[in-house]
Amino acid sequence: PIVVLDFGSQYTQIIARKLREAGVYSEIVPFSEKIEDIKKRTPKGIILSGGPASVYAKDSYHPDKEVFKLGIPVLGICYGMQLISQYFGGSVIPADHHEYGKAKLTFEKESDIFKDTKDGQIVWMSHGDKVDKLASGFEIIGTSENSPFAAIANEKEKIYAFQFHPEVYHSQEGSKILKNFAKYICGCESTWNMGSFAKEQIAKIQEKVGNKKVLCGVSGGVDSSVVATLLAEAIGDQLIPVFVDHGLLRANEREDVEAMFAARGINLITVDVSEIFLKKLEGVTDPEKKRKIIGETFIEVFDKEAKKHDGIEFLAQGTLYTDVIESVSVKGPSKTIKSHHNVGGLPDWMTFELIEPLREIFKDEVRKLGLELGLPKDMIGRHPFPGPGLAIRIMGDVNRADLELLRKADVIMLDVLRATGYYDKTWQAFTVLLNVKSVGVMGDNRTYDNTVCVRIVDATDGMTATFSYIPHDILETISRRIINEVDGINRVVYDISSKPPATIEWE
Ligand code: XMP
Repeated sequence: PIVVLDFGSQYTQIIARKLREAGVYSEIVPFSEKIEDIKKRTPKGIILSGGPASVYAKDSYHPDKEVFKLGIPVLGICYGMQLISQYFGGSVIPADHHEYGKAKLTFEKESDIFKDTKDGQIVWMSHGDKVDKLASGFEIIGTSENSPFAAIANEKEKIYAFQFHPEVYHSQEGSKILKNFAKYICGCESTWNMGSFAKEQIAKIQEKVGNKKVLCGVSGGVDSSVVATLLAEAIGDQLIPVFVDHGLLRANEREDVEAMFAARGINLITVDVSEIFLKKLEGVTDPEKKRKIIGETFIEVFDKEAKKHDGIEFLAQGTLYTDVIESVSVKGPSKTIKSHHNVGGLPDWMTFELIEPLREIFKDEVRKLGLELGLPKDMIGRHPFPGPGLAIRIMGDVNRADLELLRKADVIMLDVLRATGYYDKTWQAFTVLLNVKSVGVMGDNRTYDNTVCVRIVDATDGMTATFSYIPHDILETISRRIINEVDGINRVVYDISSKPPATIEWE
C-alpha cells in the first residue's frame, strides 16, 4: 500500500480517498507509528499529511526519521513539506501572511509527478509557515505567485514536497497528481476497488470479533444495511440485527426491509414497539419534545432487546467519515438546531466495543460497497429517512389516523416521482401533514380538510439544500392524485424554501 502518516490535517482522509479512486490501496496511520510497524505494512510509498502544527514549535509532531531512509518514495504535503525541508537541511519560516485559497501553479521543471496535468493549473493553498531555503539535493519543480517553493523534489531519491494540497477539491488536477505519485513514482498498479475494501473489512471484523456476538441496529437506510450485510458475510449468525418498528415508518417499510434481508439469508429481529412509542407521544406537540421522547424510548427498547442475548460484546454502527469530521472539527458550543436521533446515538452506559467499518469512507463509496455486496439497486438509491420517522413530518401531535393519512399521500408522491425519473435525481422527497385545515369544494359539496405539503430537495450532503425544480405537470399529477385518492386531504402545497434558512425536515 501507500502509507499515509497523519499529522492531524482535516484533509488526511481525503488523500486516502483520492488514492482509492485511483485504484490504489492506502493505509492511514498516526504520525508516531514506529518504523518497524511501518515496514511491516510493506509500503510502496509514504505520504506525510498536512497538519495544524508548526515544525519549529516545541512539541511539534515528528515522524520516525527512518522513514526518510527506507529508500521508497515520499511525498510531503504542506506540513509534510516542512518536515522534509527541515530534515534535509532547508529552512522553514512563518509566512508574512497566511496564504489561504487558490493559487496558480507554474511548472519550473518537467516531472513525472505532473505528467498529463496543465501548467498554470489552480491549486489550493492553506498554510502559515513556508519553506525559505531549499534543502540540499532538492530543486524547485513548481512555483506560485506567493510561494517560490510551491513544489520541490529530489527526483533521484524520489522525494517530493508540495506547499499546496493536491487532495482537496479546489486543486484542479490534484487527483491526477496523487495518482501520478502512486503510479509513476511508487509503481503502484490500479487494481484496488470496493470489492477489495469489502474483503479487507470482513477479515478485520472476523479477527476482532472472534466467536463473540455483535449487535447491530438496522433501520433500512443505506448505511446500516451495508454494515449489517458486511457483518453477516463476516460472522454469520453471530450478528444480532435488530430492527425497531416504532410505528413511525412509511407504508410497507418494515415488510420491505425484512424481505430484503431475508432474501440474503439474514433474519432481522423485528421489535414491534409502536404501541409504546405512540402512547408516549400522545398529545405531545413540541418538536424537540417529540424528538427527545423518540430518542430515549429507542434506547430503552434497544437495550432491552440486547439484554435478551448472551455474549454480545460489540455494537456495529454505520458511522461515516463525514460524521467523524463533523464531530471532531466543530469546536466550541454550537447551538442545537435539532437533536438528531440516529440508531447509533447511544449513551455511554451501553458499554459495547464499537465496530465501525464505514468510518473511513464517504457516502458515495458506501453505495458502491453496497452494490459490491449485492444489495439491490433501489435500496442503494434510497433517500435518507430520519430516525424519528414520520413523527417529525406530522405537525402537532402524532396519532394513528394522521400517520395513515400521511402514509397514503407519501406513497402516491413517491410513486409519481419514481415513474417520472425524479426520485433518482433528487436528494430527498417526502410529504408533510400540516396541522392546517382549509375549505374546498368537491362536486357540489363544501369540504373542510387537511393540507399536505410536498417537500422535494436537491443536496449533496444534507447540510445545505435547495428546493427541487420539479416540472409543473409532475407537481400537478402529485396534487391531483393525492386529493382524489386520499380521503381527508383537499389541498396540496409545494415547499419552495431552501436550507438555510429552512431545514429539510419541518421539525
Ligand atoms: P434537516 O431537517 O436538519 O435534515 O435539514 C438534514 C438531513 O438529516 C435528516 N435528519 C435526520 N436523520 N436522525 C437522522 O438519522 C434525525 O434525527 C434526523 N433529523 C433530520 C434529514 O432527513 C435530512 O436528510
